[in-house]
Amino acid sequence: MLKWGVLGTGEVACDVAYAINFVPNNSVAGVASRSAKNAEWFANNLPDAKAYTDYDALIQDPAIDIIYIATPNSTHTDMMRKCIAAGKHILCEKPFCLNAPEGREIQQLAKAANVFCMEALWTRFIPATKHIIEQVKNGDIGTVNFVKGSFGHVFSKDRCFNKKLGGGVLFDLGMYLISLTYPVLGMPEQLKFMPKYGQSGVDEQSSFTFSYKNGNIASFHCSFLNDLENTIEFYGESGILKLGPPFYRTSKISFDVQSASPINQEKAVRKNPYGYPGPLQKAPYFKERLKPMLPSKTKLSNIPFKGNGYHYEIEEVYQCIEKGWIESKILPLEHSISVVEIMNRLYESEPIT
Ligand SMILES: NC(=O)c1ccc[n+]([C@@H]2O[C@H](COP(=O)([O-])OP(=O)(O)OC[C@H]3O[C@@H](n4cnc5c(N)ncnc54)[C@H](OP(=O)(O)O)[C@@H]3O)[C@@H](O)[C@H]2O)c1
Repeated sequence: MLKWGVLGTGEVACDVAYAINFVPNNSVAGVASRSAKNAEWFANNLPDAKAYTDYDALIQDPAIDIIYIATPNSTHTDMMRKCIAAGKHILCEKPFCLNAPEGREIQQLAKAANVFCMEALWTRFIPATKHIIEQVKNGDIGTVNFVKGSFGHVFSKDRCFNKKLGGGVLFDLGMYLISLTYPVLGMPEQLKFMPKYGQSGVDEQSSFTFSYKNGNIASFHCSFLNDLENTIEFYGESGILKLGPPFYRTSKISFDVQSASPINQEKAVRKNPYGYPGPLQKAPYFKERLKPMLPSKTKLSNIPFKGNGYHYEIEEVYQCIEKGWIESKILPLEHSISVVEIMNRLYESEPIT
């Protein structure tokens, strides 16, 4: 039995603690809070959890095998340092840390201590997400040349608007879009960042674009101010794959086969959708223009999504630890650190105002 300790008693801690107990051979054995009331309330809602009123006491407890860190973004690195020093495996909430050098430090410490460490990027382990990334990598839509996505919800949570706690929409929401694009397009060469900073001092909405050495492009929008479409789309030479909505909790993939065969183009021209007089339809430029107007074939896939979705990442952690691995092959630390590095580059880049 893998015994988990949970640091923090907030929103995501509740969801993930529930999911841990849902996975065979895993159980929440302890929860720590800065307040006795919170720790006891949380522990009383779980079958086998002990309440700790001090984070360090839980980290040091030999009865705990692995720590799930669910405290604000700015606390992640310090919490991970302490967990590694105590020889505990780690699942740390996103973003993994606030800057890439700290991420590399944690990677080295975890390796030296031979403890498992992974970012809790739960969306990466949702079956539909795993499936779409495999489809893209298998070349189902040919070579990918463009990715676009959005993630936005109206948020009012204090932590998200508090700079000292690592708030900001890029760290909270934008990072999911970057994380799903990174395995497909890799490290961008150039970045453009258009943030809107609110009175809170954090970016409350932003658009950002990436360009890559081979000319590929990615374009995103994230927001605490609006509910957005919340999809991610991969555009390839021969089709488009779209995840969601919403991409972060979905069973839906749509696959649009875009490139029409020459025969279909002829048929479309003969149908004369614009109603122009006959001879014009034969003009070569007219056929060209019709190409993107052709009806595309959309295939919808439904890939089952169970429970609250957080148990998929717990299953991954459990399987890795069972195999004696210290990192996930699906979500290695190099991935999480690269995503942090991309966000650091965005914040450091000259904002377009
Ligand atoms: N994977 C996901 O779907 C997902 C979703 C939301 C958030 N997250 C990530 O999970 C982490 C927690 O987010 P959340 O939305 O659950 O936050 P939250 O509801 O505000 O809870 C954060 C918890 O952290 C603890 N904490 C420790 N030090 C703190 C400090 N200095 N100030 C405030 N709280 C402190 C608090 O627990 P005590 O008061 O009991 O000590 C609090 O309950 C963040 O890193 C966030 O990015 C992930």
